[in-house]
Amino acid sequence: MSLSDRLLAFGWPIPLAVLLLLQLGTGSGAIVTDHDRVVTCYISTWAVYRTGTASYNLDSFDATLCTHAIYAFAGLDEQKNAIKSLDAWQDLKDNYGKGGYERLVSMRASNPHLKVLLAIGGWNEGSEKYSNLAADPERRQAFVKNALEFIKQYGFDGLDLDWEYPTQRGGKPVDRENFVALVRELSQAFRKSNLLLTSAIGAGKDTIDAAYDVKTLSKYLDFLHIMSYDYNGSWNGRIGPNAPLTSKDLLNVEYSIEHLLELGAPASKLVMGLPFYGRTFVSTVAKARLGDEANTEGFPGPATKENGFMGYNEVCDELKRNPDDWTLAWDTAAAEMVATKSNGTASQVIVYDNTRSIANKVRFAVRQKLAGLMVWSVDTDDFNGLCAPEMDTYVDFGDRDKVALAIPAPVNGKYPLLKTISNAILVAQDELTQENVIPSEPDEVPAPGGTGSGPSGAGSKLVGPVSGAVVGMLLFVVTAIRYV
Ligand SMILES: *[C@@H]1O[C@H](CO)[C@@H](O)[C@H](O)[C@H]1NC(C)=O
Ligand SMILES: *[C@@H]1O[C@H](CO)[C@@H](O)[C@H](O)[C@H]1NC(C)=O
Repeated sequence: MSLSDRLLAFGWPIPLAVLLLLQLGTGSGAIVTDHDRVVTCYISTWAVYRTGTASYNLDSFDATLCTHAIYAFAGLDEQKNAIKSLDAWQDLKDNYGKGGYERLVSMRASNPHLKVLLAIGGWNEGSEKYSNLAADPERRQAFVKNALEFIKQYGFDGLDLDWEYPTQRGGKPVDRENFVALVRELSQAFRKSNLLLTSAIGAGKDTIDAAYDVKTLSKYLDFLHIMSYDYNGSWNGRIGPNAPLTSKDLLNVEYSIEHLLELGAPASKLVMGLPFYGRTFVSTVAKARLGDEANTEGFPGPATKENGFMGYNEVCDELKRNPDDWTLAWDTAAAEMVATKSNGTASQVIVYDNTRSIANKVRFAVRQKLAGLMVWSVDTDDFNGLCAPEMDTYVDFGDRDKVALAIPAPVNGKYPLLKTISNAILVAQDELTQENVIPSEPDEVPAPGGTGSGPSGAGSKLVGPVSGAVVGMLLFVVTAIRYV
């Protein structure tokens, strides 16, 4: 059933319905204040050092597309048991520095919905020094006091812990308990000051089981940011999807979320990660596909310059420049794109998330009633708006016999992936509402044991006295306007 059908079914007068539909139809897409999910945006602030159009300045940040911005990363000062800037010139104002902390925080003034957090840790900080800090009650106490002061000093709304990962990479088994102690003590201090405390959480089953007392952590953290990506990469020596929505094994996004829910994380605190980058592979198999052998290096993107990694902006730019070099395939199980460039003896492969991937993943998060979505990271979206719009974002949505969705126009311009998140939240919520509404309609008998077998004409019964012609006209007007 379409939106107009529903408005009419609820007895809205036609002029009002038309007005509402016009409004919905003409905007340049949804923003975060149009829904109540969180959209948490990590910014890898070193992206400012990338070359050419890939250099990401904080001035490019679009606060209308994020509920939470996370400045990544600060580090740990082990002598002082305190947070320290890892790039004083970019982060601070001292010595004519660029004052990144304060510039991001100041964006709240014109965007009252926005919360700005500072992340401490990240991959390059390693695990061991956080392991040592968490193991010592006196050092923990000092860190809590100093961290609180630091967060307040720069006006952040909270702290995001990015210890990658307790018990791993040089950590100890006892990190699991010590991390809980650190989080509990931090949260007591932060809650008193009305500040947020969140944490990035590894997504592999082995990491989750070893590193996190999920249920207890969930009590003290405001949000858990699930790093549901990096499931496969060139390090495997095999071509695999970076962030498969589903797979035959346990290494997929759906399993990670379901596992965390089973372990006692409330859906209302889970924020599911979306990668704005792909993983790259080089294979000696011509026309290589997922599952084929590859070398353990991959190849780099021109701006991010890291073997095995390519930002979405770099991928879409390459596809735009050299469209004939690449064969594109959609992998249904993973809900990811596979781009292959082959020369008869070898292949380069990129597995990445496009708008269709993002929409499908958002749909899963909405169906699981999660708090929302997180992205790593906004600086590899097509933030300049240089690439062509993708037209197939919602092709997997809606059992067309059950629901009639108002599908947004293709996103264009800056931040196509980030824009898709808010748009897809609304579409996924609409789809869910319609699916839940239709079986309970009085004049429809649900099929035994199922919800999905109503006759496809069921929607028109609800229109009542309004003739199908009027509805048709309305729909025509709306559709026409949406594509202006
Ligand atoms: C992803 O990598 C893991 C091993 O790290 C492997 O078990 C799994 O099969 C891979 N997935 C795919 C689809 O290749
Ligand atoms: C074929 O592609 C591989 C991988 O990109 C590359 O290393 C190799 O030089 C190419 N060979 C030829 C003959 O172009």
